[in-house]
Amino acid sequence: MLGIIGAMNQEVDRLKAEMTEVTIEERASMSFYVGKLHGKDVVIVRSGVGKVNAAVCTQILADRYGVDKVINTGVAGSLQAKIDIGDIVVSTDALQHDVEATVFGYAPAEIPQLGRVSFTADEDLRKLTVVCCRQVNPEIGVHEGRVVSGDQFVSSDAVKARLKDLFDPYCTEMEGAAIAQACWLNDIPFVIIRAISDKADGSAQMDYDVFEAQAIEHTVRLVNALVSAI
Ligand code: ADE
Repeated sequence: MLGIIGAMNQEVDRLKAEMTEVTIEERASMSFYVGKLHGKDVVIVRSGVGKVNAAVCTQILADRYGVDKVINTGVAGSLQAKIDIGDIVVSTDALQHDVEATVFGYAPAEIPQLGRVSFTADEDLRKLTVVCCRQVNPEIGVHEGRVVSGDQFVSSDAVKARLKDLFDPYCTEMEGAAIAQACWLNDIPFVIIRAISDKADGSAQMDYDVFEAQAIEHTVRLVNALVSAI
């Protein structure tokens, strides 16, 4: 069983619409759509925004549905000049940029007593995602790199500069690293797929409103192709 998580309705509605043999189950105020997508057993769910929603959602996918892979799809703010609005970032790894216990000698984003800063995406899933992206979205760039997540919409040059200095990230969003950690705790391979809606700077809110729909178009096309290819 493959788990597919998007934070918002816009990110998963079109995938849900393509499912067959669907049953819907409610858990933790989330609706889990269980059925088939392109012949594969899937459960698709809107987690809600933020790391807590994302982690709760992922644990339910593990416990109740026994998923053996997780795909997180959605939009993100670019943290690299070479990554344009509309492009896709595929995670190499993910970390929570708002975890901060440096006063005790931990590295920025290191989770105390866990011994980890970031969580590594599954290499096979990542590579397959890139191949599929080049096939179905040939007009846009696809970039493999680090995703940083926090309970924060990043929309200032100062915060963006801090994230770049500390983590050398490709994009920022609000769920991926929580899903990554929950997958790591449960030994489930994952990949995060994010289309760029803004540049996480002073123009981010305006850009987000204009480009969100176009960005989601690219992830929907990609996730459909990836599920077919898995
Ligand atoms: N999702 C899309 N753009 C984002 C940003 N700039 N910060 C956090 N999450 C986002």
